[in-house]
Amino acid sequence: MSGASEPAGPCGPDVPSELREHPDRFRWNERYREADPDFAPHQLVTDALAAGLPAGPVLELACGRSGSALALAAAGRTVTAVDISDHALAQLGRQARRRGLDARVRRVLADLPAYPVAAGRYALVLATRYWDPDVFGSAAAAVLPGGLLGWEALAQAPGGERGPYRVAHGELGARLPATFTVLAEELYDSERHRVSRLLARRQPAAPGLGGAERG
Ligand SMILES: C[S@@+](CC[C@H](N)C(=O)[O-])C[C@H]1O[C@@H](n2cnc3c(N)ncnc32)[C@H](O)[C@@H]1O
Repeated sequence: MSGASEPAGPCGPDVPSELREHPDRFRWNERYREADPDFAPHQLVTDALAAGLPAGPVLELACGRSGSALALAAAGRTVTAVDISDHALAQLGRQARRRGLDARVRRVLADLPAYPVAAGRYALVLATRYWDPDVFGSAAAAVLPGGLLGWEALAQAPGGERGPYRVAHGELGARLPATFTVLAEELYDSERHRVSRLLARRQPAAPGLGGAERG
């Protein structure tokens, strides 16, 4: 699998050669070294579980140390958690082991734009505080019929900062395929950022067209 690696040792994933010099890996490893872990799940996890999910696994993209993956695993889901920071994935792995959840949290070290996401596979695809329009498209395609896409990205302030990592509010919903219904799309001001948050459901399969994979 190009650009992806299953974490190996207790201290973190083996870093494949194509990621060793990756600037995003350096940048995010540095940030995660500086700040203490916070394993609080994201609000979108609560919202997704309350909205209802079909059977099936979960994919979290740009997961970081991810209290969300831990909470979803504790809720009985198998979670594939993908990030480019081996440091963050190592912290997630240690916390998953401490909670007896490591069998349900599969950590993948990968550069997301190069990560091959399996289509139509996941009951929930989640990404918070990350933006790449191509990855967003693959994430939507990865949702099972009847499943959910939860996404939060930094939002452009009106007349304020623009840039590749920010979305215009409303852009997430507008980029969804027509097979999705937006359940909620809202702007939030958090401590330091304005964010746009989306929860959307893919249209369920027509009756008789097969069920969801269990996970
Ligand atoms: C702002 S943090 C968000 C982390 C977590 N989702 C959260 O909400 O706390 C952005 C995350 O994206 C990851 N990331 C950045 N560039 C990436 C890339 N090219 N491939 C995979 N992950 C990447 C970083 O390592 C970091 O964990």
